[in-house]
Amino acid sequence: MNILVLGSGGREHALCWKLAQSKAIESEGGTLYVSPGNPGMESVARIAMVDAKKHDEVIAFAKKHDIGLVVIGPEAPLVDGLADSLRDAGVPVFGPSKEAAQLEGSKAFTKELCDRAGIPTAGYVRCTSLEQAKAALSTFAPPFVLKADGLAAGKGVVIVDNVDHAEEALKDMFGGKFGEAGAEVVIEEFMHGEEASFFALTDGTSVVPFGTAQDHKRVGDGDTGPNTGGMGAYSPARVMTEELVAETLERIVFPTVRQMRLDGTPYRGVLYAGLMLTDEGVKLVEYNARFGDPECQVLMMRLESDLVDYMMACAHGTLGELMEPRFDDATAMTVVMAAKGYPDTPETGGAIDLSGVAESDNVKVFHAGTKLVGGILVASGGRVLNVTALGADVREARDRAYVAVDAVDFPSGFCRSDIGWRELERG
Ligand code: AMP
Ligand code: GLY
Repeated sequence: MNILVLGSGGREHALCWKLAQSKAIESEGGTLYVSPGNPGMESVARIAMVDAKKHDEVIAFAKKHDIGLVVIGPEAPLVDGLADSLRDAGVPVFGPSKEAAQLEGSKAFTKELCDRAGIPTAGYVRCTSLEQAKAALSTFAPPFVLKADGLAAGKGVVIVDNVDHAEEALKDMFGGKFGEAGAEVVIEEFMHGEEASFFALTDGTSVVPFGTAQDHKRVGDGDTGPNTGGMGAYSPARVMTEELVAETLERIVFPTVRQMRLDGTPYRGVLYAGLMLTDEGVKLVEYNARFGDPECQVLMMRLESDLVDYMMACAHGTLGELMEPRFDDATAMTVVMAAKGYPDTPETGGAIDLSGVAESDNVKVFHAGTKLVGGILVASGGRVLNVTALGADVREARDRAYVAVDAVDFPSGFCRSDIGWRELERG
């Protein structure tokens, strides 16, 4: 069977690396295509050029190349309805419909669903004007959590500790700083606790847990500096005990999947729940309608089951026929190497030499923002490489990952030196 992956980040490199090992590709002679991909993927997939914004083009490519499964990596094409177009054209697709992707595409949509399904999350108010939002502030205690409603590339959440800063941020949001995404703002109660990511696959009815991870969103060591798309991750997150996983499924994921089905907008794909582990139990921070990046990289390092089987079952509504997926008990860690200046003004174009890195079953370098210029690998985006390792425990994974980081020659890059600190402190 032929497969097409859409995307160009470290997440899609890791997905391609894993998909290339599936029997559909490895032993049955299928071809794995990726568009637009990046130079790191050339060794595992065939690079294609299909514009994901042009649904007709994707459908034509799928028909021409006899694609049996399209895997949509990032959120934008999902929220844009690409999965619907493909399904309507009879092309199996891994990824939720436009309406189901509203779980990521609109904070207000998700909050209302939580209300209706009784899902624990932060208290909130929806505001459609600056005046209304300013008035609503007085009903919350600081710190204030302000969220632009729509997709804002991970930058639409502002947390401030006094009313003046909150009013300033609200002015920016309603003033168009996030474009359309800021036409509505959600103000939330601040939740105290540790964050963790939980992944589940669903075909709209059946649900299988698909691993836990912990991301590092701040750019600097010690969780300092501005928020980023994620500077590193590890899996499993042991803070997500068996009891907490069960609680997350029972109180958050199952009710969500059930409510979406009852609403006539079944969710099919990977559901990524950002969680807060509070004194009152697990609460939902947000949903994403795709794999996390870089969380996906660590999940793929640990996944032992055939990924194609699970993605096809989500596409065809047959997930209930499969056993729970198997993951290696080992710990995986990924360290993001970014271009200096990220997240504000990344310095692109810097040369990268990976010849010193000893890749193995336990060490992989996934590419994110890289490109080849005259045969030389250079940085082409903010997050550039994901240096990823597997170890018996978090310490071994960390040591292996940072040995590989040291072997990367990327003078205009930087990374955090403390990925996994919480897990390491747990001993
Ligand atoms: P989001 O884009 O919704 O994941 O928010 C970005 C980050 O803001 C989260 O990962 C949390 O660290 C933080 N955050 C969002 N909502 C809340 C909340 N209600 N209470 C505390 N922290 C929050
Ligand atoms: N790493 C966070 C995300 O993918 O949203």
